Amino acid sequence: MTTAPLNVFPEALRDSARMVQRTRESRLTRRRMGERIEALSLSDRRAVLEEFHPDHRESGRGTLSVGASKGSAVPVELVALLEAWPRPLVMQLLEKNRAAGILTPDVTTDVLVIGGGGAGTAAAIVAAEAGARVMVVTKLRHGDSNTVMAEGGMQVADHECDSPAQHFLDVMGGGHFSSNPDLVEVLVSEGPAVLRWLEELGMLFDKYPTGRMKVRHGGGTSRKRLHAAGDVTGLEMMRVLKDRMDCLNAITVMPFAPAVELISDENGRAVGAILEQLPGGTPLVVGAKAVVLATGGFGRLHLSGFPTSNHHGATADGLVLAYRAGVPLRDMQNCQYHPTGVVFPEKLAGLLITEKFRGLGAQLLNRHGDEFVFSLEPRDVTTAAIIRECSEFGNGVQVSGGAVGVWLDIPLIDQIHGRGTIEREFPGRFKEYLRMGLDIRQVPLLAYPTLHYQNGGVVIWPNGGTDMPGLFAAGEMTGGVHGRNRLMGNALLEILVFGRRAGASAAAFAKGVKHAQEPGLGHLEAYLDQLVSAGIQPGQTSPRLLPAYGTVRPI
Ligand code: FUM
Repeated sequence: MTTAPLNVFPEALRDSARMVQRTRESRLTRRRMGERIEALSLSDRRAVLEEFHPDHRESGRGTLSVGASKGSAVPVELVALLEAWPRPLVMQLLEKNRAAGILTPDVTTDVLVIGGGGAGTAAAIVAAEAGARVMVVTKLRHGDSNTVMAEGGMQVADHECDSPAQHFLDVMGGGHFSSNPDLVEVLVSEGPAVLRWLEELGMLFDKYPTGRMKVRHGGGTSRKRLHAAGDVTGLEMMRVLKDRMDCLNAITVMPFAPAVELISDENGRAVGAILEQLPGGTPLVVGAKAVVLATGGFGRLHLSGFPTSNHHGATADGLVLAYRAGVPLRDMQNCQYHPTGVVFPEKLAGLLITEKFRGLGAQLLNRHGDEFVFSLEPRDVTTAAIIRECSEFGNGVQVSGGAVGVWLDIPLIDQIHGRGTIEREFPGRFKEYLRMGLDIRQVPLLAYPTLHYQNGGVVIWPNGGTDMPGLFAAGEMTGGVHGRNRLMGNALLEILVFGRRAGASAAAFAKGVKHAQEPGLGHLEAYLDQLVSAGIQPGQTSPRLLPAYGTVRPI
């Protein structure tokens, strides 16, 4: 085995990187002999989670004092947004609404989809195919989303040795049996149909020369069922979704038009939204017969100061809108910290190092080059084990500036599967790191948990409906599918299964109703009354739309 020059790393990291090279041969031999570090028992998992997972930090948790989930524990950063006042533009329109008794829309559509990632785009396609007039409004450009940043794959039980029932058990177990089983049943049963749909749309999945799909393991899965397009799975998915949407020629897309408040009618039905167009903040009131919220998650709130793998628009906007309208939330105190975010080079800090590396055999190692956790534990467990290794055991690799990490031994993959595997399976990351001077065929990467996913969200029904008539929701902003912990590859499946369902349900709902007679902001008046009764005065405003930046580093 050749050893790579390690001068790509700063001096302080080289000795430890050398240990990784030194232990590689013996780790490989053990692996070939079928020896592996044991997965933790359920009680050990529970113990490491309770002591080291960031969800369990008292300081990060607050309690909601208003709204449909009053009394629930949620991250303090989210309490601040949910208990904030509307943006100034909304307050101006509220005054207008008070004076006129009505908020007249500037434009109307049948179905308004808020969010232009995978879930929103899937919803728009299905709604338009059902004959609805559809408008998609998106805060940034169409497609700017966590979907396009998804690397490792999508879980679908489509091979002979697998079944939706097996997939169901994995999702339930991975989520600590806290998921809504009705939603999970829908997720896993519709997986094969979604896979066929994507293939029909032209998505290029990894396949053997025979045409059979390649499948891999993800953390916490009992079968290999991850389908990928190299390490750019979400980007490839979005390519075909956008193509399909363009071909339909029936959907209006408004980029740079974030929704900042829903509008409702006298019966409490969702009948549109207020947009604050960027730049400049010109308001636009859109009237709709049904609304689909698909605004994604909250990674850019940088909970507890963690870096994030998320795109810049992930600021929980849809949660704020739905919550003000009376829709309850669930599992919000459970956040996903992906075990492997980039630590070095620092300019990529927090970005994702896909779990697919571990699926293909890359091991997590401490500063001595020793494996300290089975690399394919469910994500929350791996994350907690890394934090323990660095904090309690002091076995992390210190980087100048205070950051710490553990090694991910990627070169092992070519040793296991043959030369060329890394380049072929990870074309995106291979090139990205090479540009930074790091040849991942030769050197390990330094990683630490990064805020990756919002496990909980607004409560939805299996058809994508919510407690507010006319309001549907899908994707990362919803809760219940993954319970307290999502397994890799179930998010890309979820956005399509529930995006399509929300789009179909919204189109069907729109067919049965007329545009509102008296659109307005009654739901907001009721929420402001609650804020006032709870003693919360105007000050901070939400939704935030873009991240507030200061110093962000792992703690
Ligand atoms: O590691 C990853 O590629 C992430 C996948 C996911 O969050 O599903």
